[in-house]
Amino acid sequence: MVRADIEYLRTINLSELPLGIRMVKGSLLHCLSDLASRNGLDENILKAESEVDCYGGFDEGYPKGSITRSEGRLLFALIRTLGLSRVLEIGTLHGCSTNHLAAAVGPPVGGSVVSIDNKSDFSKVGSWIVDKVRDQVKLVEGDLFDVLPSLEKGSFDLIFEDSAHLEETTKFCIEEGRRLLAPGGWLMVHDTLCTTHVKGVRCRDRVLKGIALAGMRKKFVHYVIDDSTYGMGICRTSC
Ligand SMILES: C[S@@+](CC[C@H](N)C(=O)[O-])C[C@H]1O[C@@H](n2cnc3c(N)ncnc32)[C@H](O)[C@@H]1O
Repeated sequence: MVRADIEYLRTINLSELPLGIRMVKGSLLHCLSDLASRNGLDENILKAESEVDCYGGFDEGYPKGSITRSEGRLLFALIRTLGLSRVLEIGTLHGCSTNHLAAAVGPPVGGSVVSIDNKSDFSKVGSWIVDKVRDQVKLVEGDLFDVLPSLEKGSFDLIFEDSAHLEETTKFCIEEGRRLLAPGGWLMVHDTLCTTHVKGVRCRDRVLKGIALAGMRKKFVHYVIDDSTYGMGICRTSC
């Protein structure tokens, strides 16, 4: 999947990143092992849960903009291992990540995923969400700047932010995310280390700046799974 000639498919190297960025790069099992040890989770349960997730990703035919299969498996494994049930997704697109999130909170957990998108052609949003998990998903059409403030404080266990990748959207999602999460909730930000350009500025420069502006720079660990070229920033808010 890594290709030097396509910007967003260029490999990520720690030496190119700003000082102080905590990056973990390796196989899914390596990343799960690190996630477990940093957060006091059972590594074997996390790994076993990741095997249960059966949905695909960008590397397996989902459209551009979707997460990779391994990133989906990490999301799924974390939610299942912790028994999380209330998930907020910011940026649905076709619904690749939504499938992983919704499958994780589905039976026997009985949870739900609220997924927000502001795409002008909203009929295409979530079009790849599979029937098996659709009942777990509530799609919300609207801009994150309008929708997030309307949601109830402390009403989510995990927030997956994968929207515009701008400084202001990242900062806003993290600040609002901290209000919306229950104590000890999880913030996951996609594309934190991505080299593609968003409105003329490198994605990772914008997203990392947004995280820093929200005062959370030191709290995130960035996982680059299976040589993914995106990076998944993960932070557990204080209990
Ligand atoms: C990278 S895609 C999401 C990919 C998806 N999470 C997946 O892995 O399949 C970004 C999505 O965020 C949405 N988006 C961008 N800015 C937004 C905003 N201000 N409010 C709500 N949604 C937004 C876009 O319309 C787009 O569908």
